[in-house]
Amino acid sequence: MVLSNKFRHLALLLTASGLASAAPAAYGNLSKHYALEAIQATNTLQKLFYNGTSGLYFAINSTNNSTAPVWWNSANCITTLADLTAIDGSVSNTTNPIFANSFENAPAYVLNQKKIDPQNTCIGQWPWTCPPGVEPEEITPGGFDNDFFDDAGWWGLAWVSVFDVTQDETYLNQAVDIFNRMLSEGYNATCGAMWWNKEHEQQNAITNELFLSLAAHIGNRVDNSDYYRGWATKQWDWFQNSGLIQPSGLVVDTLNNATCQANTNDPSFSYNQGVILGGLIELNKLDPNGTYIDIANTIAKAAIANLSDANGILTEFNSNGNPDLGLDLPTFKGVFARNLQFLQQETKDSSYASYIRKNADSIWNTDRSTINGTLGTVWDQYFGQDLPQGHCAAMDMLVAAAAVS
Ligand SMILES: *[C@@H]1O[C@H](CO)[C@@H](O)[C@H](O)[C@H]1NC(C)=O
Ligand SMILES: *[C@@H]1O[C@H](CO)[C@@H](O)[C@H](O)[C@H]1NC(C)=O
Ligand SMILES: *[C@@H]1O[C@H](CO)[C@@H](O)[C@H](O)[C@H]1NC(C)=O
Ligand SMILES: *[C@@H]1O[C@H](CO)[C@@H](O)[C@H](O)[C@H]1NC(C)=O
Ligand SMILES: *[C@@H]1O[C@H](CO)[C@@H](O)[C@H](O)[C@H]1NC(C)=O
Ligand SMILES: *[C@@H]1O[C@H](CO)[C@@H](O)[C@H](O)[C@H]1NC(C)=O
Ligand SMILES: *[C@@H]1O[C@H](CO)[C@@H](O)[C@H](O)[C@H]1NC(C)=O
Ligand SMILES: *[C@@H]1O[C@H](CO)[C@@H](O)[C@H](O)[C@H]1NC(C)=O
Ligand SMILES: *[C@@H]1O[C@H](CO)[C@@H](O)[C@H](O)[C@H]1NC(C)=O
Ligand SMILES: *[C@@H]1O[C@H](CO)[C@@H](O)[C@H](O)[C@H]1NC(C)=O
Ligand SMILES: *[C@@H]1O[C@H](CO)[C@@H](O)[C@H](O)[C@H]1NC(C)=O
Repeated sequence: MVLSNKFRHLALLLTASGLASAAPAAYGNLSKHYALEAIQATNTLQKLFYNGTSGLYFAINSTNNSTAPVWWNSANCITTLADLTAIDGSVSNTTNPIFANSFENAPAYVLNQKKIDPQNTCIGQWPWTCPPGVEPEEITPGGFDNDFFDDAGWWGLAWVSVFDVTQDETYLNQAVDIFNRMLSEGYNATCGAMWWNKEHEQQNAITNELFLSLAAHIGNRVDNSDYYRGWATKQWDWFQNSGLIQPSGLVVDTLNNATCQANTNDPSFSYNQGVILGGLIELNKLDPNGTYIDIANTIAKAAIANLSDANGILTEFNSNGNPDLGLDLPTFKGVFARNLQFLQQETKDSSYASYIRKNADSIWNTDRSTINGTLGTVWDQYFGQDLPQGHCAAMDMLVAAAAVS
């Protein structure tokens, strides 16, 4: 669809910076080539998908002509911009105001808050059966807190990445607050470690990977690193023995609540194979032990083998080329790309670098709107989605290509 007038005013933060005119250079300097593509995609992202009022990115649905702000996916877009800034500091004059704006404004527009039963008269599980006249309510706890501990973890990692490129401790302190709240409100689930949400509906891999990764990231950046080393190693001991890592090397999505065994028939989403890589790399810095990187390599190689199509392009688990991945899944592949970048930089494994470049080239050449620059959810064909989730994920691969080249 063509952008209607109501979108035109949105946070045109980049137009004044001159980035709009950035065009990919010739292939002379590969790193620069990919960085310029990522900068151009940043311009598109801010122009089409950023709401400067809320500091959140929003999905456009041209079928029903509506927009929907996205919460945890916005944290991932912020992380993408921080990772780009880390490899090309020239964009910081553009990205720093975005970080500051989202940090300031997003909490007032939190989505998926914790629910309460106002009179304690409803029965069953959420969404509950309530007596006539009683409505379950959502409460806004403030900060980057909602019902979901994984959502908190994404924001925690986003603010660590922003701290890394700004050296502004306000961001790191926010990440510490988020970690403390995950620990005090979500730890000690029935199978050990973290619950997925405050209603205790599930215990899954992603929340536990995020908890590990956030603890290790913080531990490498604060004075009281012992405390975070303790939590990160304890969490890894739990994760390693949880059964979530299959003999194949793939990480499955959830645990069975009753038996505490991994649900081996569950999907092995790409993000399940991603967050753990960065977590293990940071853990290895905090508590050096060669086994961490060995296991990260095992998981990454299993994921590449399982999730790539016949041409070596990353796909989402079991998606069979379907571009409609809903509103959550389009973020996942970016999480894997970002963490594979970190693993490549740690190991210098050239097979990772060529995989990353091949995917970045495919995205730029086949998965981009020639009309407005949007990057889609399937990395070897463009289907015209208008989702910041998919756009940022594809950007993660461009940033990774710049970083490893
Ligand atoms: C490529 O460009 C990057 C970013 O501008 C620069 O840091 C790097 O030194 C360049 N590499 C070569 C080989 O020119
Ligand atoms: C931006 O966010 C504000 C606050 O939620 C909302 O009122 C406004 O409609 C949003 N704009 C768009 C285009 O989504
Ligand atoms: C319209 O699309 C938005 C964004 O995809 C979605 O959140 C919303 O549920 C849809 N509305 C209807 C009525 O289907
Ligand atoms: C969406 O908006 C466009 C432009 O205003 C209009 O042509 C189209 O009919 C609308 N579609 C729906 C499903 O309302
Ligand atoms: C960024 O902003 C600072 C302060 O406004 C200015 O001194 C500097 O030249 C700018 N850097 C770039 C690369 O535009
Ligand atoms: C978890 O439970 C154990 C045993 O009851 C308790 O000692 C510990 O403090 C709890 N940890 C947290 C973070 O609540
Ligand atoms: C998981 O266990 C918790 C606590 O026993 C329970 O409240 C929740 O309903 C269970 N969830 C599922 C999906 O069984
Ligand atoms: C390294 O980690 C492995 C697996 O967690 C553990 O068994 C081993 O004792 C650790 N080695 C050292 C030297 O800490
Ligand atoms: C990926 O792993 C799943 C689950 O183990 C398996 O069913 C599927 O066949 C694998 N696909 C490929 C291409 O390896
Ligand atoms: C867009 O809206 C249509 C119609 O309401 C809905 O069927 C579709 O699932 C929505 N797409 C997304 C990605 O939410
Ligand atoms: C961008 O262009 C594509 C076609 O290439 C179209 O499907 C999509 O709706 C457009 N998005 C916006 C936000 O204009």
